[in-house]
Parts: sequence; structure tokens; C-alpha cells
Amino acid sequence: AEDGYDLWLRYAPVHESRLAGYRAHATELVVPADTATARATRDELARGLRGLLGQAPATAARARRDGAVVVGTPASSPQLAALKLDLSGLGEEGYLVRSVRIDGRPATVVVANSDVGALYGAFHFLRLIQTAQPLAALDIREAPRTQVRVLNHWDNLDRYVERGYAGESIWDWHRLPDWKDPRYTDYARANASIGINGTVLNNVNTSAQALTPAYLEKTAALAEVFRPFGIKVYLSARFSAPIEIGGLETADPLDPAVRRWWKAKAEEIYRTIPDFGGFLVKANSEGQPGPQDYGRSHADGANMLAEALAPHGGIVMWRAFVYSHEEPDDRAKQAYNEFVPFDGQFHDRVLVQVKNGAIDFQPREPFHPLFGAMPKTPLMMEFQITKEYLGFATHLAYKGTLYEEVLRADTQVRGPGSTVARVIDGTLEAGEPGRSPLTGMAGVANIGVDRNWSGSHFDQANWFAFGRLAWDPYLEAQAIAEEWVKMTFTTDPAFVGPVVAMMMGSREAVVDYMTPLGLHHLMGRGHHYGPGPWVAGGPRADWTSVYYHRADDKGIGFDRSVNGSDAVAQYAPPVAAQFGDIDAVPEEFLLWFHHVPWDHRMASGRTLWDELVLRYGRGVDYVKGMRSTWDGLAGHVDPERHAQVAAFLAIQEKEAQWWRDASIAYFQTFSKRPLPAGQAAPP
Ligand code: GCU
Repeated sequence: AEDGYDLWLRYAPVHESRLAGYRAHATELVVPADTATARATRDELARGLRGLLGQAPATAARARRDGAVVVGTPASSPQLAALKLDLSGLGEEGYLVRSVRIDGRPATVVVANSDVGALYGAFHFLRLIQTAQPLAALDIREAPRTQVRVLNHWDNLDRYVERGYAGESIWDWHRLPDWKDPRYTDYARANASIGINGTVLNNVNTSAQALTPAYLEKTAALAEVFRPFGIKVYLSARFSAPIEIGGLETADPLDPAVRRWWKAKAEEIYRTIPDFGGFLVKANSEGQPGPQDYGRSHADGANMLAEALAPHGGIVMWRAFVYSHEEPDDRAKQAYNEFVPFDGQFHDRVLVQVKNGAIDFQPREPFHPLFGAMPKTPLMMEFQITKEYLGFATHLAYKGTLYEEVLRADTQVRGPGSTVARVIDGTLEAGEPGRSPLTGMAGVANIGVDRNWSGSHFDQANWFAFGRLAWDPYLEAQAIAEEWVKMTFTTDPAFVGPVVAMMMGSREAVVDYMTPLGLHHLMGRGHHYGPGPWVAGGPRADWTSVYYHRADDKGIGFDRSVNGSDAVAQYAPPVAAQFGDIDAVPEEFLLWFHHVPWDHRMASGRTLWDELVLRYGRGVDYVKGMRSTWDGLAGHVDPERHAQVAAFLAIQEKEAQWWRDASIAYFQTFSKRPLPAGQAAPP
């Protein structure tokens, strides 16, 4: 059944017209190494080619025929060694895919410095066929631009997934370590296919139990499944674990007993899992314990953990999503204020993990002001793959465009072209003395036990896009969407064109019907699903929607200019000048940075009020358009997947209308202006 379980590794038969050509380029499969990774590589190629080409080529120890595919390292294959290909600069994870001649016969080789590199290359080779690319005259050279490419599972040990919309956690802790669900292997295959090389198994809001011996054994069992696929396991560490599971009185990072406890814990972990990746830590945020509980800094906390892990090769991913007990004047400023003073003071095994924007994974946010502001510290990107604020798994929103927009944003800290991507891949600040060379990107997973993994078919694309961009932050969202559609559904251009087009505008549609023109955090309190712009009177001001939109009879928006909270001052001067100027700020961020009069003239010539209403309507219309596009494509998709997507789009249309009507009706109580001509009045 086409239930989506196979993700983008569906390996459906290629079009007949291409079959003979592809078969001629895959007559024989040679993967000479005999390691677990090489076996996984051989299995994947056999599985993939069998599906795509109707038959798996014969496997052989060395290439003997025209059209062999030879995969491995020069050390594993004299035939590859004899080619004397230049593998410098590929590192341990890069690869070449080349059309060559071996003993005078045409062949395709996938060559790397390590078996994992060869596995990545094998997936690339399969992807070429999956996306209907030619296999002649290949000359591909790829190496990841970031080192740590991890999923963050917000999975509790009882299998509840925080902000998860795809069923319960796939980690069956109860039956681990003895029962290793085959699904773990498929999870590893899917991740390896897009270059993800790590996974943090447990929620950032974690219990200390995850670090007890029983759970370390379970974690080790998962690590064993993932290892052949180049995937390391990491754990979220609760900062107060020394108290809760260590019997100490304190978790003060400068207390010698606490430091000894973490060192001993690290030794215990590495005895159990020799290639353990390290810790992810949420500290002093939303009630989680942390070093500030003892008057210490984020650097004190992170460095203590790094010192414990460093001898074993581990790292610390210390989150900058800090959101304290005290009510701030502007929550958007807090991370910058707490972290920038410590630039240069973090241990070189620490990455500071920063959400893409300063509030919280909104449909649109300006890039986080920390990017570019800590030149001596490696900053890791944290994107959310799960759609906490974008309609859960029910609404169709391709986040590739969101990721791309953030990565391409120009911090201008070292002049024009100082993009966020260059902060993340380390190239912007590579020359900074003493700077750690670590780089990375994290994605909050959208994975659960649903047959289709992600809760909806189209949400698989967000997992895929995250992995592709973590590997290469300069890829284009559109190209990624094209790959995904071809691999997941069909390469038929009559399907690919309209579906990619629909995906490319889908996130903007969500912005339009939920939070247009820079509005943010207007979702219902707690669940974050439906509209709640009227939410007021919470336990603290910044837990309400009115805090963020600030609508009154004069206008709407959060003044973060010099006249307001001055959050703009956290950006480099040219960016601050642009964002801080109501006439220069890009309209998509207008109400993020300014409190704007209802009659303010927009670029369109309309008033702000009219433009706002229009954007809400535009969002709804886009969803209607997606529905009719999808309905027209029924003949191109299996009925199972077509029906579910169609049903979800119908829900999305209904809920986009709900968002529009509720928002307009509410904001109209402030604007007291009529709806512009042609806009439907709320029922
Ligand atoms: C958001 C989300 C929480 C999560 C937090 C975090 O606030 O709603 O569920 O714990 O982010 O990133 O730590």
C-alpha cells in the first residue's frame, strides 16, 4: 500500500523510456569492502536499483563488464585505487561520483575516503536515477559544509512527543535494548540518504532518567543500529542530573563534586557507547534548571560539560533559547543580552544552538540577531521541522523556503554578503583567532510512529529539506522541492511542475492567513494551533498575544525601533538602520519592528488596514488554489496518498478561513474601519 512509509526512498520504477539507458549504466554492482557500512551500502543500492530498474544488477568483487558501478574507498578496491582520483578536501564524509573507464570499460565509480562517504555517494547515485538525471559523463564532487547535522527529537521517555503531530515516539524504550524495531534501520537509512549524521534522542525538557545506566544501555542499542549509517547518538542532559540521579546537594558547575560527577558520567557513557556524540542542553529557560540557579553563567555550565566530554571526543550543544522567569521588556532581546557578553569564553567543544528567529519558530521571523554577533563562538542553526506554529501536520506548508530565507539573510556584520549561511558553515568568521572549527545545524524532528512518519505526506518534505540544507546551506528550496517530489511521487513533469509551485508558495500562505506583515505569536495559548490574537491576562505579559501585536485604536505592531524596545540595535548598523526605519523595513517585517498607524500607506498604495485584510484573504485564496491543483492531479498519484492530502487541504481551507475571519473581526474592534471593497465579511 502507498502509505508513505518509504518516504523519498520509494524507488518506484523509472519511466520505460529511460529503463534501457539506466540499465546500461548499472550492469554490475561492486562494493568490495566488507564492513557494516559497506554492507548497508550494497543492500541499499541493490534495493534501490531493483525498484527503479526492475532488477538488481549482479554483485561482483571487481568490475568486469561495461557499465559496472563500483563503490568504496581506494583502500577497499585496487580498481578504485588505480584511478588515482583526487580525494583531497572531501574529508571523512565527502565523495566523488564519476564516469570513468576501468580496464578500458565504461564504469561509474562512487569514491570516498571512508565507507560512510561512499554510502552518501551511493545515495546520491540513486537520487540521480530517482530524479531522472542522465548518468553519462558524471563528475560530481560533494562534501558537507557543516559537521554536526542532527535531528532533535522532543521525545519524552514515556513516548509522548512534545510538539509532535505524528503519533508517539518511535523510540520504544520499554522494549529496548533487546528488541530493535526494524523501523530504526529505516530511520537511519532515511537520515543517511540526506546526510544527517546525528540524532538527539530525548526532549530538551528532559528528565535526568535518560542518563541512568538502564537508559544508556537502551541508547547504546540504538547507537548500534545507527552506526553503520554514520549516525551518532546524542542525549539531552538535564542540568540538575547530579542532584536527581547523582545524590548530590547541588548542580553548581563550579562545585568540584559536581564536576567530578559529570566526568564520571561521561566515562560511563563512553564505556557503553564509544562514539557517543555529546549533550544538548536547555538551561535556564522555561523553568529548566541551569547554571544561573547558582549565580553562574551559560559559559560556566557549558564548559563544565564540555570538559567532561572533550577527552572522549564529545561536544556540547548549548541552546540559546533562553526565556527566563522574569518578564522582559522585550522577549526578543533576551538571548542576545545573555550570550553576547560570553563570546570567546566557551570551551572549543561547545556550539551555541540558536533558533532561526528570536521569538519562537513563527511562520516568519527576521533572522536571530545572535547570528554574526558572536564571532568567536560557533553558532549552530536550530530549525523546527515539526510545524508547531504552522498548522501542525494538517496544514500543507513547505518549510524549505523558510529555511532558505533565513540562511540567505544578510547579517552585514562584515559587510554585504555576511549571510547567516556563512555564519553557520563557519566561513564568515574562520579567521577569528581561537575560534573553534565546529559547525552544525539542528532540526526539531517531525517524526513519530505514524505509518508516514511525519503525520502528513507533505511534511516529509520538511525533514528532507532540512537534511539537504544542513549538508549544503546554499542549496535552493525550489531545487530541493523538485527532488523530493520526484523521489516521493513521480518524475512526470505534469505533476512535478504544479506540485512544486504549490509547495513554494505554501509557507507564505500560512504567513498570510495567520500572521501577515510581521505579526507574530497570535496562536491560541498552549496548543499553538488556531487563532488567539485576543489572548490576554496570562500569568505574565509575554505569554499573551496582545503583548506581541499591541493593537490599539491608533495602530498595530510591536515597536522595536529606537523609540520602542530598541531590539533593532542588536543587529549590525546597516540592518538596524533598515529594520528601524518604518519606511525602509521590508513589509514582511513591518509589524515585527514598528507600531504602525492603521492608515499608513503601504507600497501598494493601500492603507495598512486594507493591506492586512487583503493578506488574510490572499492566504485563504492560496489554499483554495492548492486544493484545486491537487484535485486536478488525481490521475498522477496513488489513491491512498491523494485522498489524504486532499482531505487535509480541505481542513486547511476551513481553518485558513477561521484564522482570517477571527483575526479580522478581532483587529477590526481596534481599527474601526470597514473591510475594503471586494473582501468577504466574516460570517
Ligand atoms: C517552544 C515550545 C516548547 C519547547 C520550547 C523550546 O516554546 O512551545 O514546547 O520546549 O520551544 O524550544 O525549548
